[in-house]
Amino acid sequence: MVGSLVFVFIFLFSLTSYLSLRRGKREPQRRAKLPPGSMGWPFIGETLQLYSQDPNVFFASKQKRYGEIFKTHILGCPCVMLASPEAAHFVLVTQSRLFKPTYPKSKERLIGPSALFYHQGDYHLRLRKLVKGSLSLNAIRNLVSHIETAADSALDSWDGGRVINTFQEMKKFSFEVGILAIVGHLKDHYKEELKKNYCILDKGYNSFPTNIPGTPYKKALLARKRLSQILSDIIRERKENGLVEKDLLGCLLNSKNEKGEALTDDKIADNIIGVLFAAQDTTASALTWIVKYLHDNPKLLEAVKAEQKAIHKLNEGGKQPLSWSQTRKMPVTTKVILESLRMASIISFTFREAVADVEYKGYLIPKGWKVMPLFRNIHHNPEFFPDPQKFDPSRFEVAPKPNTFTPFGSGVHSCPGNELAKLEMLVMTHHLVSKFRWEVIGSENGIQYGPFPIPQQGLPARFWKEFTSRKESRVPTHSRF
Ligand code: HEM
Repeated sequence: MVGSLVFVFIFLFSLTSYLSLRRGKREPQRRAKLPPGSMGWPFIGETLQLYSQDPNVFFASKQKRYGEIFKTHILGCPCVMLASPEAAHFVLVTQSRLFKPTYPKSKERLIGPSALFYHQGDYHLRLRKLVKGSLSLNAIRNLVSHIETAADSALDSWDGGRVINTFQEMKKFSFEVGILAIVGHLKDHYKEELKKNYCILDKGYNSFPTNIPGTPYKKALLARKRLSQILSDIIRERKENGLVEKDLLGCLLNSKNEKGEALTDDKIADNIIGVLFAAQDTTASALTWIVKYLHDNPKLLEAVKAEQKAIHKLNEGGKQPLSWSQTRKMPVTTKVILESLRMASIISFTFREAVADVEYKGYLIPKGWKVMPLFRNIHHNPEFFPDPQKFDPSRFEVAPKPNTFTPFGSGVHSCPGNELAKLEMLVMTHHLVSKFRWEVIGSENGIQYGPFPIPQQGLPARFWKEFTSRKESRVPTHSRF
């Protein structure tokens, strides 16, 4: 008798638990359905469709077919893609706590697992405050003359008309500036070692992750270890000298949590490499596009030149340094930079992962699914930016509609380096157009993804100081500025 009662109890308990579990699990699904879209083939989903063509063609054709929100399956993960400003704002800003950052483990191993952009919550907020502080307007205004020196020396090294890869050269420039903002003025041997090993890490970052010796990924892992050691030496020297610098390293070294604990050297190294990584290719890519767009739009180039040459003249032909307030008053150049950021949309999209079942406009985004706000689609939507393929800086005479222009992302993970990036672009453009002329080699107009969008082949080009005579440089007339 007792046996049967226990059996009935267990049966009823199991049944109610099962039903309530089902209800709990199913509730959002009963109300909401999955977004429209195709999940493609078993296992591979639509990975091949995405990677065998320009990703924007894939996104745009999906958006045309399914609208602002659609599902797909790529790289082994079910995904929901979001192509409207409201949906991106929902994921990145208003409901950001329901979506966590997500990156492949192989990439995390290279940068370092404590880098702020892998985290959500208190640790992320603490690190973000430090990074933002070290890159605030107040902090970066002191960098203008140093950025000028870096721009001048980069441009001088391009002079003479040999063909250079603009993107690779811009990478060197953005690395110099990144190092300045992050660890300040370094002894030459530290800088050289950082550069050498960071370069190996950078080469392996997008390679196939394997531990086989000699592969780019394995080399990158070893370089990452050496970077930790170099940074550890730099940190030790700083501590010994008792210097309190205002750069990012200084901010990280001085930070204490509520228990009075400092960050470990490993956490500091992960964040220094992380910020450097976030800063370099993005800024170099934007700068490369600016060179291309100015080259392709001679009238705009003349307008930018007029603005910058007036400043150059005021500064006695460059004898006086560019001042912070001058960098704040470059309206034509600023609009060219904004339009370049819109057209190029360096970060075309980002990834998050739903930490719970989430409902958006009657659609279900299941827990564990990836979510991708598509910045480029929004930047290229004619509803928000008429004639979106036209390079037209004058569109920025009027502020874009809310949440439609997000080259630096939005919300808790938005770019803390955006002001530094814009300052780099202003200073480089000032020196470029006021002292140099250039010619782009080849007429290919496409985009190459590496993974950030850059002009084909990194924009091969020749540069000359303006006073160099044409005969010496043997350039065809039609392409001379
Ligand atoms: C034109 C240049 C740049 C562009 C287009 C750009 C764009 C972005 C975007 C879109 C995000 C957000 C990504 C997401 O939501 O998943 C981001 C994050 C970030 N960026 Fe930038 N960025 C640029 C330059 C820089 C520079 C110069 C620095 C630092 C010196 C920097 C540091 C960071 C960091 C640390 C994050 C992660 C923030 C967090 O997770 O809280 N970026 N960037």
